[in-house]
Formats: sequence, structure tokens, C-alpha cells
Amino acid sequence: MSTLVTGIAELVTNDVSRGEGPLGVVSDAALVIADGAVGWLGPAREAPAADRVLDVEGRAVLPGFVDSHAHLVFGGDRAVEFEARMTGRRYDGGGIASTVDATRAASDDQLRARLRALVAEMRAQGTTTVEVKSGYGLTIDDEARALRLAREVTDETTFLGAHVVPAEFAGRRDDYVELVTGPMLAACAPYASWVDVFCEPASPHAFDGDASRAVLEAGRRAGLGLRVHGNQLAAGPGVRLAVELGAASVDHCTHLVDADVDALAGGTTVATLLPGVEFSTRSPYPDARRLLAAGVTVALATDCNPGSSFTSSMPFCIAMAVREMGMTPSEAVWGATAGGAAALRRADIGHLGVGARADLTVLDAPSYRHLAYRPGVPLARALDV
Ligand code: NIG
Ligand code: FE
Repeated sequence: MSTLVTGIAELVTNDVSRGEGPLGVVSDAALVIADGAVGWLGPAREAPAADRVLDVEGRAVLPGFVDSHAHLVFGGDRAVEFEARMTGRRYDGGGIASTVDATRAASDDQLRARLRALVAEMRAQGTTTVEVKSGYGLTIDDEARALRLAREVTDETTFLGAHVVPAEFAGRRDDYVELVTGPMLAACAPYASWVDVFCEPASPHAFDGDASRAVLEAGRRAGLGLRVHGNQLAAGPGVRLAVELGAASVDHCTHLVDADVDALAGGTTVATLLPGVEFSTRSPYPDARRLLAAGVTVALATDCNPGSSFTSSMPFCIAMAVREMGMTPSEAVWGATAGGAAALRRADIGHLGVGARADLTVLDAPSYRHLAYRPGVPLARALDV
């Protein structure tokens, strides 16, 4: 069964050889989908016949958003903590402990319902691939459970046992790192593709460079790809450690020194920016222009989680990236699609070309520019073909 999607005012391909500008835009376009992949794309007037036709009537079509950083397995929420921050309280990661308590207390079905609701929210806003982390269980069984549930909705699952040191290990950080790198990793690796660590010596709850290195190296030995939460609250070792170890992505990158930017520019690690965090913690936004000027690959993601960024909306992140981080609309759209795919080291998503996965997002608007131009308006949705 093949489908011709036509009536596309503007098709973003992310293939500069295919169309105009950095997003490879084809105007008045069509594409043919067969067996879940793109079989043909080009000007609508040259389109071949297909079994059925879907006319999007002058809308823009983009590669589905790739949200490469989200924490969707958790119980409870932290609306009261958010309200306190809006009147001046600082974010230091301490609130994670309350989500850990609520997550441990929740049933599988409660966690599954919340997870599925958030994935549906994302899809309704144009996200077709999402990465999901553990990190609110912090026992062997609770971390393995989080990843088992996450695997029900995505292959991009990340073991984040090293999120914070849980209360029962207070004052015994080294013992907790031993647990994470030993039996917890062994129990979680079968359900995980990636390992991540909250490398943030500025937080009393998170991990320093040495502990982070131990976690990442153990994850690598277990066959997992590497990701890092780094440089969120202050400059620190996270970015350079991520680049040195060849991590796929280092996320946050809010506080960078020149050596961090140089390392990113010389390495293969994507810098993933999470503007929902700065919005929700009332913090200064990362300097996207500085990274782009240095030639660093920049991705955008929601970091959807109950503490620092409870948004599932990639369009909202795109709008913030443009308005608050100095990115152009095309840089932001690239970051939310091809950038996210690069951060997950995926060649089959984040772009539209023959053979790519047929993950399409359609806008109730004629141009990708409207994502930032019309903030807060529900324009984007994943297209069910
Ligand atoms: O990416 N920085 C660490 N982890 C999450 C926040 C988790 C939370 O506050 O619950 C983040 O911002
Ligand atoms: Fe995060």
C-alpha cells in the first residue's frame, strides 16, 4: 500500500542537495510513502501515482521532531516547587528526591499511564521519536522497571541510575556509584541503549567528573552508548568528559568556558540545548550562537520532566530557541529534527529522503517559520499516514 502525500506548500527535507537553504526546502512538493519509508519526493507536478492520495492542502510538512532528551517515567509532580522558583527559590536538583519517592510508590500501571499520556502529548505536537531515561527509581528494581516500561514506547532508552545520590546512600556516594556501575547496571542494561549521568559538581546531589567517568566507562563496557547531563548549573567537567569519551550528546551546556566550546568543535559530540529548563528554572539561556559560530552540531530537546522542564512541546522549545537563544528559525527547526537524530546517532530519522523513515509532521501553516512566529499555537502534529 503506497500513499502520495501532496498539496505540501513547503517540504523541509534537511537535505541541502534537494532544496532551498539550510533546510533543503522543496516548495509545492509531494512525497510517496511505502512500507513505512519515503519512496519518492519532489515537485508535486512530477509525482508518480500511488494507491491512495492524502492532500494536506497547502500546509508545511517537516521530518517528525526527534526529542532526544526526556524523563517520562515518574510519579507525582512538582508544581509547588515550580511556584516557589518563580518567587526566587533556586534550582539545584534537590527536588528530584521527592519524585523518587513518588515513583517508587507508584504501580506499574500508574507509571505506564503517565508515560503513554506524555508520549501521546508529544505526538500531538509533532514529535515522532523520543528518548526516555530512567533516573527516578534509584534502586536496582525501580530503575529496571522504569526502563522496562520505557522500552514499551521507544527503543531509545537511557539508564540514568546516576541521576542523584538517593537518601538511603546519604554520605556514601562512593557506595552508590559502586551499585550503579555494578548490579544496577547489570539489571538495567538489557532494557537500555544508552547510559547517562548528571555530571554537576555544583549540585550537592549529583556527580563529579571522576564518578561520572566511572559510570560512563561501566556503561560502555556493558555495551551502552554514552550521553551526559553537563554544565547545567555551573561550568564543570561534563562537556569535556563527554567529548573525551566520545559521547553521542552532552545536554544542557548552559555554562561553558572557551575550552568546552573548543572541545565540542573538535569532537563528534552533539551539544543538546534544553531551553525548557531555563524557562522553568528562571535561568539564563545557553548561548547557541557561540556554539554555532564554532561549528558545533546543536540539537534541541524538551528535557520533559516534572522538576526542571515539564513541557512536552518541541514547538515551544523551537520558539524559545529563536526568541531567547538567538537561533534562526531554520537553525531551530534543524536542531529539533536532524540535530535530535544526530544526538541519537540515527541516520533513518530527522530528515526526509528516499529510504528515510516516513515520520512526518504537518503544520496548520504554510511554512516552518510559523513554529516560532506563532508561539503557543497548536500548529504541529505527527501525520498518521
Ligand atoms: O535534565 N539535571 C538533571 N535532571 C533533570 C531534572 C530532573 C528533575 O529536576 O526532576 C534535567 O534537568
Ligand atoms: Fe534531563
